[in-house]
Amino acid sequence: MASIGDKYILTGSGRSDHDRLRVISEIHDGRTRELLLRAGLASGHRFVEFGCGLGYVSRWAASQGASVTGIDLNPEQVAAANELALEAGLENSQFRQGSVYEPELMPESVDVAYCRWLMVHLNRPVAAMRTIYETLRPGGVMVCEEADVSAVYTEPASAAYTELRDIAIVAGTQRGVDYTGGRRAHLWARETGFEIVHVDAYHPHYLHGEHKGFWNWTLRAAALGLVNEGSLSAQRLDELVAGMNEADACPDTVVAHCRMHQLIARKPA
Ligand SMILES: C[S@@+](CC[C@H](N)C(=O)[O-])C[C@H]1O[C@@H](n2cnc3c(N)ncnc32)[C@H](O)[C@@H]1O
Repeated sequence: MASIGDKYILTGSGRSDHDRLRVISEIHDGRTRELLLRAGLASGHRFVEFGCGLGYVSRWAASQGASVTGIDLNPEQVAAANELALEAGLENSQFRQGSVYEPELMPESVDVAYCRWLMVHLNRPVAAMRTIYETLRPGGVMVCEEADVSAVYTEPASAAYTELRDIAIVAGTQRGVDYTGGRRAHLWARETGFEIVHVDAYHPHYLHGEHKGFWNWTLRAAALGLVNEGSLSAQRLDELVAGMNEADACPDTVVAHCRMHQLIARKPA
């Protein structure tokens, strides 16, 4: 995914941003819901999602009776999230533009704070967690699901997938973000002052279907940024995309997505 550090915003890859966020929701929401229930999310809770995108998780939390605020840097996504919530008839949710670094929330007002695919796009994840910490009531929980992109692979191995994955990780490092950071989310939380309640990880694998190609679009979008910057030639990108397409089309090739690291962390009571 294209990234400009703290101002990360999804950019196109031949698929619309909405399409991509829908697929993220389809891949991850089942596990996200289980994690939030495990964290104790309940009716009446004040729930805030940071980097909410189109608000799939927030709408589900609202459907469970939580009072929901979704905050995202991207105004276009916030507008779409508000429309989707309206269409769903959810009156206990609101979405607004803002940054996790300056969320403009009352201190100690939140029961459950949530983010997915956010910290790995930030230059200062610990500072972001510190802000979240301040918004939580004592005993409140932060629930995070963050990626480790180094876990993307195919079997049999596709050199194109491997090369683009590694290019994307290096490009992230050069921009000061850590696309492998999901594995360190518990350390960021500990540094912030949270108590670690639960860690786990899962690793989606696909042999066929629409979701198999998700990392193909994603790596392609990230690499387009590099072509624009001049650090990758358009011809090389075409070759790598052809290699990824070949792997996706092969019925015997399994494509493994990033590993998703799950964290429940509590602000001491
Ligand atoms: C990969 S998307 C994930 C969206 C959503 N969490 C999901 O899982 O579908 C990352 C989101 O974080 C938002 N974002 C990036 N930097 C942010 C910041 N500093 N504060 C709030 N949102 C931010 C982006 O606009 C984008 O919607």
